Amino acid sequence: MTYKILIVEDSPFHIDLLVSALGTDYDLLIAIDAEKALQILKKDKPDLIILDAILPGMNGYQFMEILSRDPKLDSIPVIFTTGMDQAEDQIRGFALGAVDYITKPFNTELVKRRVQLHLELDSHRKNLELLVAQRTKELVHTRDTVVQTVAYLAESRDETTGAHIFKTQNYCSILAEELSRRYPDELSLQEAQLLSQASALHDIGKVAIPDKILLKPGKLTDDEMIIMKTHTILGANAIEKTMSMLGENFFLRKALEIALTHHEKFDGSGYPNALVGNQIPVSGRIVALVDVYDALTSARPYKKAFSHEKAFDIIVHGDGRTKPEHFCPRVLQCFIDLQHNFKEVLVSTYE
Ligand code: C2E
Ligand code: SIN
Ligand code: SIN
Ligand code: FE
Repeated sequence: MTYKILIVEDSPFHIDLLVSALGTDYDLLIAIDAEKALQILKKDKPDLIILDAILPGMNGYQFMEILSRDPKLDSIPVIFTTGMDQAEDQIRGFALGAVDYITKPFNTELVKRRVQLHLELDSHRKNLELLVAQRTKELVHTRDTVVQTVAYLAESRDETTGAHIFKTQNYCSILAEELSRRYPDELSLQEAQLLSQASALHDIGKVAIPDKILLKPGKLTDDEMIIMKTHTILGANAIEKTMSMLGENFFLRKALEIALTHHEKFDGSGYPNALVGNQIPVSGRIVALVDVYDALTSARPYKKAFSHEKAFDIIVHGDGRTKPEHFCPRVLQCFIDLQHNFKEVLVSTYE
């Protein structure tokens, strides 16, 4: 493949020098001012730009600013050309993102070498970026699959299915993504997506709860409930242990936060730490509602599954056990507004 180089230069003398240095090895596009260069860039994407700092009309610096604001153009390496001893111009060019400068009058051999060097560097950079993107995708896929498998194993004792974990993650992403649209300062879209994946581990601590409590067909005694409540801390401790082996990791940090805080309640009546309001991290506030919706609409050893309508009614109007004050008002409002999306996931045939 022949590389394409855009030369932006107004002096015919310097154009001739550049053409004689580069013309045999590269496809050259030539513009005698910045406006014409921008015209060319509308149709053509060069691999490198050689830019005169001083041009009639728009100067080279203004031209670079335009490039840097265009995501399709800002990665093209720019070498700019200045007179001898123009240190200030050179520094200004670097500040605007130039990769190098060449001083006039041009030395043909040096121009050749500089251009070759920067084309090679840029091609290495692109290969690395591609490789990193590919590896990251593989890692994220592996992580999400492992997390789902672990969650499935952890919850399989009380008849949890893969479909169930998938649904929980879906409910979380409905709420988290809506919340990040309404309150981008509280939650970024990227974090919303990560939370939804991490939410699968919220009840991981239940692995340590004895069968006779976890699988009890009837109501738990107060003592049994005390033991049951430790699943939050046990889960957080297990994730903490993994983190101490792997090192700090944002995904696990969020999973830990969710395991620990998903039974906290907005009015302060939750456990294990009776946190109030926004002391509860947004991840925990989201999963708290999802968890109750999910428990209500699923069969448990101690209860049968309720319909979407009944679950909605219990969450929004309360019953003896659940009250609307338990939930973050913002999260609750998103649930009310998007309840039909919840119902769609609930009745989805993937089972
Ligand atoms: P879970 O079954 O996943 O329930 C999660 C949360 O959903 C409960 O948290 C509660 O806030 C809500 N929830 C579940 N079922 C109902 C219901 O029938 N009515 C209403 N209004 N809310 C409901 P909670 O209470 O902190 O319980 C945590 C976990 O403790 C439960 O997770 C479950 O594994 C266990 N658990 C709670 N109560 C009982 C019980 O009576 N018998 C048995 N065997 N386990 C229970
Ligand atoms: C320089 O930029 O150091 C001068 C070398 C050249 O003219 O390419
Ligand atoms: C929040 O920041 O998510 C809750 C604050 C509120 O809605 O009052
Ligand atoms: Fe729980």
